[in-house]
Amino acid sequence: MGIEEQQTAPGATDRLVVFDTTLRDGEQAPGCSMTHREKLRVARALADLGVDIIEAGFPAASNGDFDSVSSIAREIRGPAICGLARCHEKDIRRAWEALQHAERARIHVFIATSPIHRKFKLKLSREEVIRRAVEGVRIAREFCADVEFSAEDAARTERGYLAEVLSAVIEAGAGTINVPDTVGYAMPGEFASRIAYLREHVHNVDQAVISVHCHDDLGLAVANSLAAVESGARQVECTVNGIGERAGNCALEEVVMAVRTRSEHMGVTTNIDTTRLYPASRLVAAVTGVQVPRNKAVVGDNAFAHEAGIHQHGMLAHQETYEIMRPEDVGMGRSRLVLGKHSGRHAFRERIGSLGLELDEPELDRAFMAFKQLADRKKQVYDEDIEALVLRSDAAEVGEWRVAGIAIRSGGPGPASAEVEVIHADGRRVQAQATGDGPVAAAFRAIDTVTGLDCELKSFDIRNVTDGDDAQGEAVVTVGHGGRVFQGKGFDTDIIVASAQAYIQAINRICALAPGHTTFDAAESA
Ligand code: KIV
Ligand code: ZN
Repeated sequence: MGIEEQQTAPGATDRLVVFDTTLRDGEQAPGCSMTHREKLRVARALADLGVDIIEAGFPAASNGDFDSVSSIAREIRGPAICGLARCHEKDIRRAWEALQHAERARIHVFIATSPIHRKFKLKLSREEVIRRAVEGVRIAREFCADVEFSAEDAARTERGYLAEVLSAVIEAGAGTINVPDTVGYAMPGEFASRIAYLREHVHNVDQAVISVHCHDDLGLAVANSLAAVESGARQVECTVNGIGERAGNCALEEVVMAVRTRSEHMGVTTNIDTTRLYPASRLVAAVTGVQVPRNKAVVGDNAFAHEAGIHQHGMLAHQETYEIMRPEDVGMGRSRLVLGKHSGRHAFRERIGSLGLELDEPELDRAFMAFKQLADRKKQVYDEDIEALVLRSDAAEVGEWRVAGIAIRSGGPGPASAEVEVIHADGRRVQAQATGDGPVAAAFRAIDTVTGLDCELKSFDIRNVTDGDDAQGEAVVTVGHGGRVFQGKGFDTDIIVASAQAYIQAINRICALAPGHTTFDAAESA
């Protein structure tokens, strides 16, 4: 069933609309920023997954956001593409400009409704908030038939007033009314009763789909979303791996598998191809550098691992004694050992497809060449290696700077030293030398002298991508610059090279954002 059909009979259907905001709420979390190319890659994975709506960004927030939403709207077919906007004419026009070429577009307008936001952030009366909300929806409807309205901080808004706001925006033409728990404050029973109240008191509620958008500050985002669905919400807003502001958003994979595994209890179904969940999770983890904890529900490495003898015994006797879902249901049943140096292009292409990494022909050529080079150095090339080399080539494409070579001297009596050669996109080759407490610190300092950027190292992590003494290292670096946080990743069998690549990637992200980046009045931001 399409979203249009869903909206002709809101509330009366058992279809749960999955609204993914990985590229908007997820991406705006510190350290989760993605490049244009990475966003497109994630958008393709979301379309494969079968999400109904992709919230692709906040076009008025920056030129980069605008360009990404616009490219996703032009390229992605299947899901509706959504852009966020404040209830300001300028924002809404900008959102529509970015969305206009989508197969199906949605404009999502929002304004805060809770007393604390009205008083301290907006400095607006109740009446003025309603007036602006209605005006925002009306303007959005002039451009687009599919308009969603969010009452930011709805979970802390007076119930009666919230019902009034939502009735007014439905009257103005909103087809979806979203009830966000913006600060992750709600409790499941309480949130469910709020939704039940709205179903009873919003007089025209049958003309809209009720949506929920829960943050995870108390670890309750999924529980609150499911409680709301039990109470009649028919859209959930979520992100892959639950990435998002602070503790994150409702995790898409968890809410989808809960609804599927307990379908008899929940009474709703989604359009998600659950076998794409694990590949999508891995992709988002690799792109953002935010690792999935081993014990994370549904997609964590240990989610299906049975260690205790008594569990293993039960599993051998009957799988369902200890397993309510099968690893293959979420796309985890793949073989770990994949390719070697004799593997051909055809096998490589197949593996890329099954990892959810869609590549065009030139990208495939580049990735295949990188694979051959890696296979010469490593006996066995695993899925994780292939993901790493594809993402590394994505990162190299967008960068202003690239690491060409690095020579290290460390372990002696004095400080470590690094000699780094980097290449600028304009062809300049620059070398620099620096010392530091260790080889990594020396390499970062040498890079600083080349780029001249003043950035503060906030965190540095290194891990092996696979097992084995020939494993690639993955370095993740987070730096602060201009009040914002940027992340970079690097992959190489040499961990100093991986670290330098990660540092350069973070710097490239700063450079990519600098031209044309605009921020709006923080007092009114989401
Ligand atoms: O958390 C929130 O309230 C939001 C809205 C903009 C939907 O992200
Ligand atoms: Zn949010």
